[in-house]
Amino acid sequence: MIFFWWMLQGLIEGMKAYRGEDGRVLMFRPELNAMRMKNGAERMCMHSPSVQQFMEGVKQTVLANKRWVPPPGKGSLYLRPLLFGSGASLGVSAASEYTFVVFGSPVQNYFKEGTAALNLYVEEVIPRAYIGGTGAVKAISNYGPVLDAMRRAKARGFSDVLYLDAETKKNIEEVSAANIFLVKGNTIVTPATNGTILRGIIRESVIEIALDLGYKVEERVVPVEEMKEAEEVFCTGTAAGIASVGSITFQNIRTEYKVGDGLVTQQLRSILVGIQNGSIQDTKGWVLEID
Ligand SMILES: *Cc1c(COP(=O)(O)O)cnc(C)c1O
Ligand SMILES: *[C@@H]1O[C@H](CO)[C@@H](O)[C@H](O)[C@H]1NC(C)=O
Ligand SMILES: *[C@@H]1O[C@H](CO)[C@@H](O)[C@H](O)[C@H]1NC(C)=O
Repeated sequence: MIFFWWMLQGLIEGMKAYRGEDGRVLMFRPELNAMRMKNGAERMCMHSPSVQQFMEGVKQTVLANKRWVPPPGKGSLYLRPLLFGSGASLGVSAASEYTFVVFGSPVQNYFKEGTAALNLYVEEVIPRAYIGGTGAVKAISNYGPVLDAMRRAKARGFSDVLYLDAETKKNIEEVSAANIFLVKGNTIVTPATNGTILRGIIRESVIEIALDLGYKVEERVVPVEEMKEAEEVFCTGTAAGIASVGSITFQNIRTEYKVGDGLVTQQLRSILVGIQNGSIQDTKGWVLEID
């Protein structure tokens, strides 16, 4: 049989296996990745592995590559589960077969603690997601169309792109593969996920940690102008963790933010990292040992 991929449907995930302080191999809330793939598959008319099958695939991949999980604090084994429609068909229709694979590679920490902050560029031409579209799921078709905006921003010295809502172009949504938060005093604001924003697992975790610490967290529409009043800005995602944003440039005006020790971003990051690496007791059942 001729086997080919007419890649109409595809979903990715991104997760990490890393060593805790005691050398055990750990993962952070991996069942949320499994559920996200399942929900994404429904949106894209795909069959998907069950949560249990997804978890089994990821665990087996980590165990088979255990020697590639870097020592504590030195990086992680980045995992890229991929689900795509495969099978012999040329029609614009749901595939008859689906393939689930898990790729992995050791990676360094995205940012060395306390170094480079992100400089974001607000993109006004290319939107990332549409109302009724697939912005809320990790569909492969969300990423190709924004590479051009990322390339232009990077050519001008920016680290990444901050997208506006496609409809009004007045409100901020998120970065290419990370969620965004603004801090002012005791209040932390992040755009509400309303079908166009990916509900990040780090985003959800940071909201919970911030509420536990007594911050006021607002999930709502965030006008782009509001970023001028923020004191601190940070991005969240599995790849970057909690990354400080040093500046945002909108219509050629650059707004700078505080970065470094003693700030809210640093406080949230040290708690998240501490729970992940086992130096802070995991009372929430967020950390899974792989053995
Ligand atoms: C993966 C991703 C995120 C971050 O999600 P996490 O679960 O926190 O890693 C945010 N935005 C987009 C568009 C993404 O693809
Ligand atoms: C969610 O989307 C609806 C429909 O576009 C819009 O009216 C509403 O203001 C949005 N709410 C938030 C919190 O983003
Ligand atoms: C574990 O987390 C704590 C708290 O954030 C941090 O101080 C420590 O350096 C981390 N350990 C490793 C090995 O990364």
